[in-house]
Amino acid sequence: MANNTTQAPQQPVRHFNLLRCVAIICLALIVLVGLAVLITWLAIRPKKLVYTLENGSLQNFNLKNNHHLNATFDFVLMAYNPNTRTSVYYDFMESAVSYKDQTLAFGTTDPFFQPHRDTTRVESRLVATNLALSPSTYKDLRREKSSGEIEVDVRFKSRIRFKVGIWKSKHRTLKIVCPSATLHLSWSKHFENVPCEVEL
Ligand SMILES: *[C@@H]1O[C@H](CO)[C@@H](O)[C@H](O)[C@H]1NC(C)=O
Ligand SMILES: *[C@@H]1O[C@H](CO)[C@@H](O)[C@H](O)[C@H]1NC(C)=O
Repeated sequence: MANNTTQAPQQPVRHFNLLRCVAIICLALIVLVGLAVLITWLAIRPKKLVYTLENGSLQNFNLKNNHHLNATFDFVLMAYNPNTRTSVYYDFMESAVSYKDQTLAFGTTDPFFQPHRDTTRVESRLVATNLALSPSTYKDLRREKSSGEIEVDVRFKSRIRFKVGIWKSKHRTLKIVCPSATLHLSWSKHFENVPCEVEL
């Protein structure tokens, strides 16, 4: 009887100690893994990718009275990867040009690989064929055509992967927006570079 009463309370205490030990080891492991990730991250330290719309032109621009549009857009996007260790796979890339919230044309670009510390010139051609315009867009576009300048927004969407050494990241969606690009209908005027916003 006396034995039972003295031993019974000891059991939970030993159990409790073991649990505490496991908890401390787990915590230490988590902290160690966290530190390792932090140190790796600091060593690689990915810098933001930089994009500039360098050229844009508009050809075969034809606006018909039935509110339909034909046009060929050509854009040159300069992609700069400032990272010293990280390179980028652009596995898929599409582009869209819009005028006052109406998308005028889409295009796709061939996949490419961008090494670290590299600038790549990405050319894309977007074609609108017999595109039906809303009456207000048609009216605005006709007015801008006679002024000789058309202001458009150019968007790129890409599926990218990062590569550091032999490690490759999962796919991520990259969005690039180049707002308010002015296209000149006359050849005499130069395209003004547009800095683009990046969403990753
Ligand atoms: C921009 O593109 C147009 C048409 O492709 C070309 O004629 C012009 O030389 C280009 N300008 C620059 C600065 O690259
Ligand atoms: C666009 O081009 C097609 C032929 O490629 C033609 O049938 C159509 O009438 C054109 N539309 C406009 C608005 O010029």
